[in-house]
Amino acid sequence: MSETRCSLCLITTLFLLFKFAISWQELAPTPPLPILPLPAFSQLKWQQRELIMFLHFGVNTFTDSEWGTGHENPAIFNPVGLDASQWVSTAVDAGVSLVILTAKHHDGFCLWPSKYTDHSVIKSPWKNGKGDVVQELVNAAKARDIDVGLYLSPWDRHDRRYGHDLPYNEYYLAQLQELLKKYGSVREIWFDGAKGPNAPNMSYYFTDWFSMVKELQSSINIFSDAGPDVRWVGNEKGFAGTTCWSTINRTSLSIGNASIEHYINTGDPRGTDWLPPECDVSIRDGWFWHKSESPKKLSQLLEIYYNSVGRNCLMLLNVPPNSTGLISEADAHRLREFRSAIDTIFSTNLAEKCYIKASSQRGGKEGGFGPQNVLDNDHLWTYWAPRDVDEDDPWIEIRGSGEGLRFNVIRIQEAIGLGQRIKRHEIYVDGKQVAKGTTVGHKRLHRLEMGMVHGEVVRIRIRKSKGVPLISSVGLHFDPFWHPNGQRPK
Ligand SMILES: *[C@@H]1O[C@H](CO)[C@@H](O)[C@H](O)[C@H]1NC(C)=O
Ligand SMILES: *[C@@H]1O[C@H](CO)[C@@H](O)[C@H](O)[C@H]1NC(C)=O
Ligand SMILES: *[C@@H]1O[C@H](CO)[C@@H](O)[C@H](O)[C@H]1NC(C)=O
Ligand SMILES: *[C@@H]1O[C@H](CO)[C@@H](O)[C@H](O)[C@H]1NC(C)=O
Repeated sequence: MSETRCSLCLITTLFLLFKFAISWQELAPTPPLPILPLPAFSQLKWQQRELIMFLHFGVNTFTDSEWGTGHENPAIFNPVGLDASQWVSTAVDAGVSLVILTAKHHDGFCLWPSKYTDHSVIKSPWKNGKGDVVQELVNAAKARDIDVGLYLSPWDRHDRRYGHDLPYNEYYLAQLQELLKKYGSVREIWFDGAKGPNAPNMSYYFTDWFSMVKELQSSINIFSDAGPDVRWVGNEKGFAGTTCWSTINRTSLSIGNASIEHYINTGDPRGTDWLPPECDVSIRDGWFWHKSESPKKLSQLLEIYYNSVGRNCLMLLNVPPNSTGLISEADAHRLREFRSAIDTIFSTNLAEKCYIKASSQRGGKEGGFGPQNVLDNDHLWTYWAPRDVDEDDPWIEIRGSGEGLRFNVIRIQEAIGLGQRIKRHEIYVDGKQVAKGTTVGHKRLHRLEMGMVHGEVVRIRIRKSKGVPLISSVGLHFDPFWHPNGQRPK
């Protein structure tokens, strides 16, 4: 090759490279790289639900107990007025899109006609032994287009196979197959390690159970202390940690181990697995219905909401049907109040009409990652992204128009589809700090301890994050039910 030809070829190459660089810069800036681990599709869908419902129902409903002995006579199960569509409409009115039923609790009594035991609805007078509570719930849920989940208690105080590893695990797997093959799509399944101190020793074959579940239901989320899809939050009060990572190391977890309760409550910023927590809590003191109990006050339910949904979790609220087979009117009434309160607080975002700006934005003004993205209705895939990782304390600012801003709740949401990132954040009103916190995740709610604030400029500073922070939504809200220190909101 001659020297001229070679330099010609070099020039051509340079020209092409230059042209490529230009045309690439003219294209829309790309989203930043994700920070692993990421949620799976079914986990992302689960996270959007925010409020879901548990239905504890079974022989305990008729014996005024929480843990049955396993010696109950199936004849006591007779919910003469059972109407699963009343359960479902109560759930729908509360804004719930998934209801989870105790198909079998620790007493071993099955709410569906299992082939593998006669300790079930088959032996009860309800519908002359022809009833199936699981089927009734599935039909009612389908009619209103909501999803169903199931709980099948590993601890079984009735079945004689319990305590014998192989036969009991085979029995349990057989029942899992019945529940996951016969009733259509099941979106969540609940496993726990609850067990009395004198229960026989028993190893559960969790690996086999989980594999079988995934084989039979591809879009299901498996809940347990240790996932694999959703983890327990470590208490039954419904409170997540003020720091709450969806990430954790699954290898450090085991089911039914009390010493992991703190770890699962807060998660792990270095966690290698995406395993967000679910906060289970009952609307009453007990999980099953008791004549003597009444529902929690609205203010208690709201506190649970702020401490679960407002801390990057799901709130799983138990509402126990009574011995007639209906959700008590007192509970249904409280749920309507609860939904209406949530709607009152969050349906108006005072930031919506405001001018919004940020310290910088990825790809420049027309790049598509500007701060106005935090005010649109997409809380997942449109977001504000600052220019680069090295920026000190990136911030976003909301500026009121004219009369200023009055609010007592601040909502921040991260674009978790690209990983949970924020480690520390602070909020200022006219230069004065009004709130601070660590993690944000899907949703962080700050209900201000000082009550109402009034100001012109609200600034959210991200002090620490993994990579660039990506904020998908911000809200300033007024909660008329929040009266810290007896203050009456005006
Ligand atoms: C369970 O096993 C442990 C250790 O193997 C033993 O100490 C305990 O007594 C056993 N409990 C029962 C109820 O069999
Ligand atoms: C329970 O968890 C603790 C803390 O992670 C761990 O040290 C211990 O080995 C676990 N116990 C069992 C039985 O898995
Ligand atoms: C979780 O795993 C990561 C990666 O192996 C490790 O850096 C981190 O220290 C672990 N967390 C805990 C609490 O051990
Ligand atoms: C169950 O709740 C329904 C609806 O409020 C009510 O009509 C029924 O009397 C209740 N049953 C019992 C046993 O309290």
